[in-house]
Amino acid sequence: MADILPGLPHTDTDPSLDLHWSAHALELALQADYATSPNPMVGAVVLDSSGTLVGEGFHHRAGDPHAEQQALTAAGDRALGGTLYVNLEPCASHRSPSCADAIIDAGLRRVVISMLDPDQRVRGAGIAKLRAAGIDTVVGIHEERALRLNEFYVKHRLTGRPFVSAKFAMSLDGKIATRSGESRWITSEESRLHGHRLRHIHDAILVGVNTVMVDDPQLTTRLEGVAAARQPLRVVVDSQLRLRMSARVVGPNTLIAATRAGRMGAAEVVKFPATTDGRVALQPLLDELGRRGILSLLVEGGSTVHASFVSEGLVDKIYAYVAPSLIGGREAPSPLGGTGVEHLAEAVRLRELDATRLGADLLITGYVDVHRDS
Ligand SMILES: NC(=O)c1ccc[n+]([C@@H]2O[C@H](COP(=O)([O-])OP(=O)(O)OC[C@H]3O[C@@H](n4cnc5c(N)ncnc54)[C@H](OP(=O)(O)O)[C@@H]3O)[C@@H](O)[C@H]2O)c1
Repeated sequence: MADILPGLPHTDTDPSLDLHWSAHALELALQADYATSPNPMVGAVVLDSSGTLVGEGFHHRAGDPHAEQQALTAAGDRALGGTLYVNLEPCASHRSPSCADAIIDAGLRRVVISMLDPDQRVRGAGIAKLRAAGIDTVVGIHEERALRLNEFYVKHRLTGRPFVSAKFAMSLDGKIATRSGESRWITSEESRLHGHRLRHIHDAILVGVNTVMVDDPQLTTRLEGVAAARQPLRVVVDSQLRLRMSARVVGPNTLIAATRAGRMGAAEVVKFPATTDGRVALQPLLDELGRRGILSLLVEGGSTVHASFVSEGLVDKIYAYVAPSLIGGREAPSPLGGTGVEHLAEAVRLRELDATRLGADLLITGYVDVHRDS
């Protein structure tokens, strides 16, 4: 058991202790570093009846023991009469014994849970089981943090579709390439490294066929010092299969979304319905990715693809890398092409903005508020 914290006095009436240990469970959960997909990231802590930490654990990846099972195993008999902290509602049935059963069997007196599990196989059943067994069960401590931590999982379980992040790198005057189409590299090495980190945490990356034609990206995750960087599924929207076989993205672990059947080397070609302008319909594509257990999709452009995703209200979060340079030119593209909105009141607004310095650049992030001013 790593990093055992010293025991703290334990009473049911001190909310600061619940905040402390729930936060610790969240920190444990994050140690999985998104490798649990399609499962959520979960951490659990067991205190004995005197409030001393006697067990902790986190879910490492799908198929491995759940966090509660690990913390209970570490605690052994010392769990009797104690308290368990966990950032997600314990499962109730899809495992034998379920985590709720294991908690009951261990004789815990109290369970503190940050958020309900949105998975329809749980959704309150774990809590109901604990309460029916007479366990004092508290829900909602650090709920916002817990929801954020597992935002990919929550979106997928509630909608059947992946959480969609849209990422672009632009000059200060809002250009993602020069008028001749050159875009390498607008931003600094620090920003590009951060971009690889984004690829690492997402299950899939998507680009438009024009970006592949111009930039010939590999769309792989390259992170120094991370031996086993996760390689996301590569997705290219290419209605008419215009891609060249020699493109670096054509290979295993690539899905080419088209509006007609065909073959493209070792890549998988999947036919989707067409929009009225003959392009790949994005909502059926997201449904299919969701069915495949893809919790998160990183859309990397170009401007035509970003415009489609944004105008259809399909983006959840924006990552804008802004370089301190000026490119200029009417012909140079901006992050969102398409026709755009006519009136300012129709503009898509971002909330929960954040800004970080990355070398000489700024990274601005925000969540998309789909509710527009009326
Ligand atoms: N700085 C950055 O962050 C960044 C990132 C990426 C790209 N770029 C630059 O952006 C430029 C390419 O952007 P682009 O706007 O020309 O092309 P794009 O967005 O990469 O690709 C657009 C093409 O994708 C296909 N597509 C299929 N379904 C679609 C749908 N539902 N919605 C939209 N497109 C769909 C269409 O071609 P079909 O109809 O033939 O299928 C469409 O013309 C390049 O210069 C590249 O270097 C910059």
